[in-house]
Amino acid sequence: MMEQRADPADGYGTVAKVFHWLVVTLVIAQFAIAWTMPEISRGTRPTGLVSWHLSVGAAILLVALARWVWRLTHKAPLPPKHLPPLLQMVSRSTHFLLYGLLIVLPLMGWANAAARGWTVTLFGIVPLPALLTKGSALGRRMGDIHGTTALVFLAVIALHVTGALYHALILRDRTLQRML
Ligand code: HEM
Ligand code: HEM
Repeated sequence: MMEQRADPADGYGTVAKVFHWLVVTLVIAQFAIAWTMPEISRGTRPTGLVSWHLSVGAAILLVALARWVWRLTHKAPLPPKHLPPLLQMVSRSTHFLLYGLLIVLPLMGWANAAARGWTVTLFGIVPLPALLTKGSALGRRMGDIHGTTALVFLAVIALHVTGALYHALILRDRTLQRML
């Protein structure tokens, strides 16, 4: 088991790093797929890029859940001591929002897929249960807000990456290095 780290100079453990960069890769692929897949309407079938969107999304949900469980049982390094309390709060809230969106956003997509009567599978191999019944009004509404929530997610990612670059280029501390 990874020991709990108290020294801010210490980095994240290997498992935390692998989870972080695996999620980053999957999320980049997911946005690329979402923006190139055909417009989804009533008659759309979940094939081709749409099917990839469902599978990659389901993979993101599984990895994000595993990562969260890991995070709850393994402490992250403390924020750098020189960071003003306000920025420490912004940093913590951003991380919390990222974890939350990594779980809520796929759940909304999954609910919408169920409302359309689509079966979500992990890469065509492992079928996942339907979250809602076909035709569910809640599932349809979840689809409407799924796309908008993805844009909110993108804005939070932009804030997060700005923070990482602020540490690396302006504060010149070791915050970025400890996730590498
Ligand atoms: C982090 C994960 C995800 C991201 C970033 C994401 C992103 C997006 C984006 C940006 C769109 C809008 C595409 C457009 O411009 O029309 C979209 C649509 C959609 N996504 Fe996802 N998605 C994720 C996970 C999922 C999952 C897990 C599922 C289902 C299992 C899913 C199912 C759908 C469906 C059905 C639509 C069409 C919604 C509609 O227009 O009614 N998504 N997604
Ligand atoms: C899809 C995009 C991304 C997501 C969803 C994401 C998510 C997260 C989350 C949830 C944490 C908190 C880890 C924890 O305490 O358990 C974190 C930490 C971190 N991320 Fe990201 N990240 C993304 C992209 C990036 C990129 C592109 C960079 C580098 C430019 C980056 C650099 C970092 C660093 C340095 C930390 C550690 C921050 C600290 O020690 O306070 N992340 N990330």
